[in-house]
Amino acid sequence: MSDVLHAPTAIDARRLGQTEHADSLRARNARLAVGAAVVVKVRRSDDGRLQEFRAPYQQAMRVLDALNVIALKDAPDLAFRWFCGSKMCGTCAVRMNGREVLACWEAVEPEMVIEPLRNLPVIRDLVVDRTAYEKKVASFEPWLTRTGPYPGFPEPLLHRDIANASRALDCISCMSCYSACPVIRLGSLTDFAGPAPLVQLGQTALDPRQDQQQVARALSRSGIFNCVSCYKCEEVCPAHIPIVSSVIEPLKAKAAQLVPHMARHPLTFRSVVARRGRIDPGELILRVQGLRAFAVFPRLVRLLLRGKIKPLRTLLGFKSPAADAAKRILKQGGRSR
Ligand code: SF4
Ligand code: SF4
Ligand code: FES
Repeated sequence: MSDVLHAPTAIDARRLGQTEHADSLRARNARLAVGAAVVVKVRRSDDGRLQEFRAPYQQAMRVLDALNVIALKDAPDLAFRWFCGSKMCGTCAVRMNGREVLACWEAVEPEMVIEPLRNLPVIRDLVVDRTAYEKKVASFEPWLTRTGPYPGFPEPLLHRDIANASRALDCISCMSCYSACPVIRLGSLTDFAGPAPLVQLGQTALDPRQDQQQVARALSRSGIFNCVSCYKCEEVCPAHIPIVSSVIEPLKAKAAQLVPHMARHPLTFRSVVARRGRIDPGELILRVQGLRAFAVFPRLVRLLLRGKIKPLRTLLGFKSPAADAAKRILKQGGRSR
């Protein structure tokens, strides 16, 4: 293959959030001269307006540096939270130009809109209330309960058995992923715990020493199958945790095994595809919801009118030509994809 085909495109750089993130410090620093004005618009909570400030650029300036300059010079009442200043405590997460970042780690932009995280109540300005997150994590009983005696140090653990729990342990509880999650934005329409609490749960639930009954209790409170695997959480995680592939998907597999009624929808989806080689929404609705589906009759009519459900196809058990291949692939656990 020629070098031209290997060359990264502008689209690649934009799409790969973390590559873009790693490149940004040098790129942004090159755009600003020491002393030049950085324009910072901060969302204030008293009236919801964006208040504009200017901070003189210093070499390697971070968002937190700009906020500190503003608080010292122009707005002593500006509320923002930080402790470690070094990507350790997770308290300084905000949104900068629409993206979740750690204020103590992110390089400034020449013009920045700084807002509080989404999906959490704002206490003041950039400070959000983390109570819901902390309560959810506590409800997961986030401690290790052995089912056998302690075998002594070093414990006979294989790297591959502890790898996912170990990745989850990198979490600094910054809540960036929680802010980016579109399912959490649906509010009480779902009982989804959200990515940050699930990563906390993964620290013990994905540890092979953990009591499986404790895992089942926690998973039954997690609403985990509401996750739509959109990867928005992973894109913003400053700890680069593969939240979906190393935590949520393994937890979903555990839930399907330990609390099978939670997995009714995905297991039915899989069985329909394995039998027919395609998804049949009519059959899926009937098998998951049963007669309850008719309780929302107007919605069924809408689906029918839009051609989303086709009762004749459902009744006749129509199969696609891909049925045999689908059955074979799903029987192998999808490994042949
Ligand atoms: S992958 Fe799941 S947890 Fe992550 S942002 Fe999407 S819906 Fe939320
Ligand atoms: S998983 Fe990543 S983004 Fe989410 S709270 Fe932990 S460190 Fe922050
Ligand atoms: S201040 Fe601790 S992570 Fe930013």
